[in-house]
Amino acid sequence: MEYSEKVMEHFTHPHNVGKIDDADGVGEVGNAKCGDIMKMYLKIDNGIITDVKFNTYGCASAIATSSIATDMIKGQPVSEALKLTNKAVVEALDGLPAVKIHCSVLAEQAIKAAVRDYYDKNGIEYDEAEFHFNEEHHH
Ligand code: FES
Repeated sequence: MEYSEKVMEHFTHPHNVGKIDDADGVGEVGNAKCGDIMKMYLKIDNGIITDVKFNTYGCASAIATSSIATDMIKGQPVSEALKLTNKAVVEALDGLPAVKIHCSVLAEQAIKAAVRDYYDKNGIEYDEAEFHFNEEHHH
């Protein structure tokens, strides 16, 4: 399997790994296909993501996508983080092997889950549509 240099770089030296003890939003999601799990922590100040950390029991692609996704949302307004798609994340990594695309969805889902947790905890109203995952569904 061929990984881009960027994927290898983020996999071997992932950014923003860890935990935020006093996080304002925490999201945990699992990948139904492989059983891998990701946990995302957000620190939010005045609607801006001031810090973000993640932990995953996931494969190289899941780690690389989370690493770059957390870089992309750090310092951004929550509304921008919600717009981050796994497609944009994969593009930022110069692509992923087709069989690993499903792994990249974890990062987007975990970010959305953490934002939703933040909204819920703070009584902020939101539109369900903002939280629809760009996941392929198999029946
Ligand atoms: Fe599970 Fe990639 S194989 S996230």
